[in-house]
Amino acid sequence: MTALGTVFLQTKDFIYAAYIVAFALLIYGMTGLTGPKTAVRGNKIAAVGMAIAVVATLLREHEFSGSGTVWLILLGVVIGTAVGVPAALKVRMTAMPQMVALFNGVGGGAVALIAWIEFRHHFGGGYPLRVEIFELFGAIVGSISFWGSNIAFGKLQEILPSRPIKLPGRAQTVVNVGLFLVAVASAIVLSSGTHSQALFILGILVVSAILGNLVVLPIGGADMPVVISLLNAFTGLSAAATGVGLDNPVMIVAGMIVGASGTILTNLMAKAMNRSVPAIVAGGFGGEVSAPVSASSDGRSYRSTSAQDVAIQLAYARQVVVAPGYGMAVAQAQHAVRALEKALEAKGVIVKYAIHPVAGRMPGHMNVLLAEADVPYDLLREMDDINPEFPRTDVTLVIGANDVTNPAAESDPGSPIYGMPSLEVDRSAAVVVLKRSMASGFAGIDNPLFYDPKTSMLFGDAKASVTELTAEVQAL
Ligand code: TAP
Repeated sequence: MTALGTVFLQTKDFIYAAYIVAFALLIYGMTGLTGPKTAVRGNKIAAVGMAIAVVATLLREHEFSGSGTVWLILLGVVIGTAVGVPAALKVRMTAMPQMVALFNGVGGGAVALIAWIEFRHHFGGGYPLRVEIFELFGAIVGSISFWGSNIAFGKLQEILPSRPIKLPGRAQTVVNVGLFLVAVASAIVLSSGTHSQALFILGILVVSAILGNLVVLPIGGADMPVVISLLNAFTGLSAAATGVGLDNPVMIVAGMIVGASGTILTNLMAKAMNRSVPAIVAGGFGGEVSAPVSASSDGRSYRSTSAQDVAIQLAYARQVVVAPGYGMAVAQAQHAVRALEKALEAKGVIVKYAIHPVAGRMPGHMNVLLAEADVPYDLLREMDDINPEFPRTDVTLVIGANDVTNPAAESDPGSPIYGMPSLEVDRSAAVVVLKRSMASGFAGIDNPLFYDPKTSMLFGDAKASVTELTAEVQAL
């Protein structure tokens, strides 16, 4: 490339034009993420936008302070690609929440490190206060997000105990508030021009790191997806703040999008679980390993059935509703479920899917799995659309779902999930529940649906049971 060409590519106007193209592609790509059919394409478009933003940033002349910088950046790109691509290709669907936690943490950590480096460049003065405030925000929030996300990853991956780990009584809150105040006070002292800037910025990063650990440790593993979404919002906001400091519009736009969407998602998830965000952050719910509930403990009984009997019920039904849950994801039964749907449709049965907003362990979990198995999107019904259909349904097949079908959410004010909107499967003529045992689900509570006289239990791994059901239906 000619010297003139290189100079043109490095002009501020060209670089800003590239940034505008980058975030336009980013926003356009994200609109594709609203549906499974357009999501992959949307993701690719957004990735192209990000690649343009990276190249434009590298073209900024002042980014290259020494000849070693380019090689260091390229080394970072190579290491990141070598770790990130195989990890993303290999990850199992059920491990997606911890993968998101890890990648989100990396974003927060990068923001905290950028803040540290920027301060090192400006020790001794020359850093305008309006920029400094944003960098300090990035340092505190980015560091909390990095360490908090690592704890979330550890809990979900079962490297750390998933039960809440907290100090007794109110001590935890006092320590957390104290640490936060120390971080903010240090930021104020630092921005007022202290002589020990190097010490203060490191102190801020360390205090925020401890805070990140202490905020997430008391939260039960079960609430982790909501916390990850919250930390995701934190990372976005800290990246946007750092974008102001670095005069980088793509960081500002992308960071604000992540911040806003993470906040909305956190609220939606908390609402669908009938929990408040402060209650989740206060911790203590859903972290215990679910214990099997004994049917004989209080005299109630349940009815166990066989694949043969269920196949007859299904084949002679007019309408069957499938209510999938976390167990379908664990068993990877989505393809088997699709095969059963086809077998029933071949016999003239209408099949629909009931999708609860928090079925599974991450937003859209069931939609993604069923889309992977090529289930037509128009067969998937949101909770509010399917609930009025249950009284017209002959058989509801609950496949590895538990909490999202629990009638206690509506009828028992003493239940921990009271108020959570649920799938009203007990209003259909018959219910068949496919699971391995009488064990409780995520919330660790009993499900009266299993003891309802019109419910029968088909015990076994969901994939094996559904495959057997399909064979039986086809044989009829
Ligand atoms: P859960 O209530 O967790 O129940 C899943 C059931 O699947 C378990 O009772 C388990 O019973 C069964 N199961 C596990 N492996 C199985 C297998 N291989 N074959 C057959 N069954 C299997 O799931 P849900 O009804 O989908 O509810 C989701 C819960 O997660 C809600 O409480 C929700 O609040 C919470 N949550 C969701 C999210 C999001 S965003 N989706 C985020 C955080 C929390 P067995 O062990 O007896 O088989």
